[in-house]
Amino acid sequence: MCGVRGWIVATVVEESQSGGLGWVREGFPPVRRRSGFVAPHGYSRLRVTTHVLRCAGVTKDYTLAGRRVAALRGADLDIESPGFYAIMGQSGSGKSTLLHLLAALDRPDAGTIEVAGRAIQDLAEREANRFRQRGIGIVFQQFNLIPTLTARENVELPGMLAGERRVWLRERSGALLARLGVEGRADHRPDALSGGEQQRVAIARALLFAPPLLLADEPSGNLDSQSAESLWSLLEELAGDGMTVVMVTHEPAAAAHCREVFVLRDGRVVGRFAPTVVKGGRGGAVVAARYQQLVRTE
Ligand SMILES: Nc1ncnc2c1ncn2[C@@H]1O[C@H](COP(=O)(O)OP(=O)(O)OP(=O)(O)O)[C@@H](O)[C@H]1O
Ligand SMILES: [Mg+2]
Repeated sequence: MCGVRGWIVATVVEESQSGGLGWVREGFPPVRRRSGFVAPHGYSRLRVTTHVLRCAGVTKDYTLAGRRVAALRGADLDIESPGFYAIMGQSGSGKSTLLHLLAALDRPDAGTIEVAGRAIQDLAEREANRFRQRGIGIVFQQFNLIPTLTARENVELPGMLAGERRVWLRERSGALLARLGVEGRADHRPDALSGGEQQRVAIARALLFAPPLLLADEPSGNLDSQSAESLWSLLEELAGDGMTVVMVTHEPAAAAHCREVFVLRDGRVVGRFAPTVVKGGRGGAVVAARYQQLVRTE
């Protein structure tokens, strides 16, 4: 898509289906007319924005045992186009807090957060739930699968809770498990799956409603290096399909798969760099060096 200042992220909005969010994917573009973009057939509205994700001056304090902890102190984050992005930072720098705010799981004390041109910092609880349910997939380090449900049931659960039709759910969960290479494990419970398989099931669950934004908080923290490597490739592949994947990670080798790395320090984004343009090419060692430089010298 061409347009103003490089990319235009065109957001197709069909309120009842997408909770107010949705990305135009390949093969499903908005129609460009002389008067501007119009929504493709079947969609009622179209929002065109120059950013996928934009945070400005985000602050968040927690109070613990009467003491205030400043988790975010004016974080700015700009993601202009869909792709695979990493957020790195030392423990306590505010990475998980930022991810929670992006997912509208919590609200900032100050600042603005825009996802696909939609301000989410002040969403009421109901709206936030709706936005999260359809617009965002979340993957955590601990997988968070329900132990008493099979892989397939875990994937279908958000749809069951949303009242989706069983036939659609069965078809969708089957397709997702196959896409993630775990279709053979559909009827197994989580304790019969390896860590890598559990994480793939958790990702399948996060993708149930084809969210435009996938947020992952240290998704490979509990995986061996081979499973981790294949998980990062998978996330990269999903981002290649037009999703925006934002991954919090401690691992330079993970960030090396990303288009860009944002570095958080003491609740602020102190820098960003693209692994592919770092001298010496891709690779964990190069990312690690650049990261250390940013964390130390700011
Ligand atoms: N619910 C909470 N109550 C009180 N303080 C909190 C809470 N959540 C986070 N904090 C504090 O806010 C700061 C940022 O925490 P956050 O979890 O965002 O860091 P992080 O960068 O994700 O760290 P890690 O790499 O260890 O996961 C830390 O000082 C943390 O102790
Ligand atoms: Mg964290």
